Amino acid sequence: MGSGKIIIAIDGYSSTGKSSFAKLVAKGLGYIYADSGALYRAITYFAYNNGFIDDRGAIDEEPLKKLLKIIKISFRNDRGGNSRTFLNGDDIEAGIRTSQVSGLVSKIAELGFVREHVNAILKQMAIDKGIVMDGRDIGTAVFPNAELKIFMTATPEVRAQRRFLELQAKGSKDTYEKVLEDLKKRDYIDEHREIDPLRRAKDAIELDNTFMTMEEEIEWLNKILLPNFNLEVELPKQ
Ligand code: CDP
Repeated sequence: MGSGKIIIAIDGYSSTGKSSFAKLVAKGLGYIYADSGALYRAITYFAYNNGFIDDRGAIDEEPLKKLLKIIKISFRNDRGGNSRTFLNGDDIEAGIRTSQVSGLVSKIAELGFVREHVNAILKQMAIDKGIVMDGRDIGTAVFPNAELKIFMTATPEVRAQRRFLELQAKGSKDTYEKVLEDLKKRDYIDEHREIDPLRRAKDAIELDNTFMTMEEEIEWLNKILLPNFNLEVELPKQ
């Protein structure tokens, strides 16, 4: 007999607010949150620090392929309940969010052996269902049978503005124009790669949040999609 728990796959472009939305949904349902992008970022961070990818994105595949089998990437929640990424026991959460890693990650994510490795970890995490996972190919390649699939979009300009503010808060000096250009570049590589490119699964419901607040997104989810599964996300009290 099933537990009644489902898999929720949330895919979409960068800076559409997938991870904030996915985290809130997971919390509200008592589900696990899984950030597939953090795995690609962790591998990029590892590759960069070991000289397997250079600043221009040239990759030395063989040593990466070998070492991928023995490194350990894991997630732990901090006291505030936020997920942090660890590499061989070291907290690398800040390291994987730099613009350096953001600029290279799509190159690493093009490699077939990297995608296979990440997918095996993701499948293990979802073994008992009750999970909200965000990424680029969750509804198309990782869990094509996920019970609920959402595809998030927003205009590139609004997404770049969100990312720009996020980076500024971290002390970054990147201009809005640079952020917009980087974002478009990454979207292009993600959409055009050979293996499991970013695209909307046929059965995914589109959520364009260009003009929506997070509360409105949760209201939309509760009204339109979750009643089918007898689920409801409670909004956190202000
Ligand atoms: O934070 P943001 O939404 O911009 O990106 P992310 O979710 O952290 O993902 C970083 C990068 O990892 C993406 O641009 C993709 O190149 C890659 N990725 C992927 O290929 N497949 C996934 N399921 C998740 C991420």
